[in-house]
Amino acid sequence: MKKESSANREINDLKESLRKSEERFKFVSMATNDTVWDWDLKTNNVWWSEGIVNFLNYQRDDVKGDISWWEEHVHPEDRKRIVDSLKTVIASNGQLWSAEYKFLRADGSYVIVYNRAYVIRDDKDSPVRVIGAMTDISERKKMESRMLRTEKLSAMGQLAAGVAHEINNPLGVILGFSQGAIRRLKSDDPLDYPLKSIEREAVRCKNLVQDLLTFSRSTTTDQGPIDMNQTVMGALSLIRAQSKMSKVELETKLADGLPRVLGSKNQIQQIVINLATNSFDAMPDGGVLTVKTELVNEGIRSWVVLRVEDTGTGMSQEVREKMFEPFFTTKPVGRGTGLGLSLVYEIVKKHSGLINFESQEGHTEFFVKLPARTGDESDQKE
Ligand SMILES: Nc1ncnc2c1ncn2[C@@H]1O[C@H](COP(=O)(O)OP(=O)(O)O)[C@@H](O)[C@H]1O
Ligand SMILES: [Mg+2]
Repeated sequence: MKKESSANREINDLKESLRKSEERFKFVSMATNDTVWDWDLKTNNVWWSEGIVNFLNYQRDDVKGDISWWEEHVHPEDRKRIVDSLKTVIASNGQLWSAEYKFLRADGSYVIVYNRAYVIRDDKDSPVRVIGAMTDISERKKMESRMLRTEKLSAMGQLAAGVAHEINNPLGVILGFSQGAIRRLKSDDPLDYPLKSIEREAVRCKNLVQDLLTFSRSTTTDQGPIDMNQTVMGALSLIRAQSKMSKVELETKLADGLPRVLGSKNQIQQIVINLATNSFDAMPDGGVLTVKTELVNEGIRSWVVLRVEDTGTGMSQEVREKMFEPFFTTKPVGRGTGLGLSLVYEIVKKHSGLINFESQEGHTEFFVKLPARTGDESDQKE
């Protein structure tokens, strides 16, 4: 009797510790946000943790408990590579397998997963089970590629600025001497034409160099609280003549009572001018250019948003991917330098802002979001 009760207690203890360990495992799989799978190589059965429901959104009933279900849900482009590499690890004496691949979610989209698995072998070294965990790394991948792009852009910008710096002084000399010589010439001098050509081209280079140098100016010298609407109007007065010439209708929708933005008036005008110039170029047969300002509140953050919209050609996928790169242009030599948007990008970045766009045939819109200066009543009353 006594013996039996102690055996009973032992069984109960075992049951209790099993329950605890199962519970702990359940919590762990819930906490990790991973999908854990356990593949029995003898029966080919696969067990999936809650992650298959929670993050891949499958219903339990959709999930077939065999390995072919997993294989079928690996992206077709990755399937052969992934399945082969896992089989190789199992067939060789390997213990660890890891891979990155796209996996199908219940809604038909693919997530990028990192899968790490462990091959368990019996005492004869034959593989018996594989236990793996899939982690969704889509967000991380997206961030990585965004960072790479940003790094590439700023590296190219720095290179361009370095070159501009070197060219700036010799250019000054060329311009100075040619202008000096022109002043001393009589108007019928045969050197008048070549010297004026030198001057004109040197001025063109100087402007280009000036644009490039904007990249290297890490701090803006003329920073201050600025009135966005006034700044936009100032820029538009410069391009009004161009809009008349190119049969483009210019519309403005400026919001009242905008808070100020801390920044450089010149540089923000440059944003407007560069975006508007691109819009003109995209509407060779005329169209409508709309410039808007508005206040956007996102939680505790407020933004002053500048929107430049046109009814032009729109951009292809390739152009959309490359347009912010310095020197990327689709325009003929002499028409485009490919610096407009990369400068806009740099300026926005320096102002702690964000830039976004939408483009399709007949409609392109750029959004520039700059942090609003809030809680600064004295500025707004001016
Ligand atoms: N509003 C727009 N509509 C259509 N294409 C545009 C627009 N803005 C920019 N692009 C495209 O992006 C390219 C890069 O623009 P940008 O950096 O200003 O250089 P650039 O104007 O000198 O070519 C342009 O050549 C053009 O193909
Ligand atoms: Mg341009």
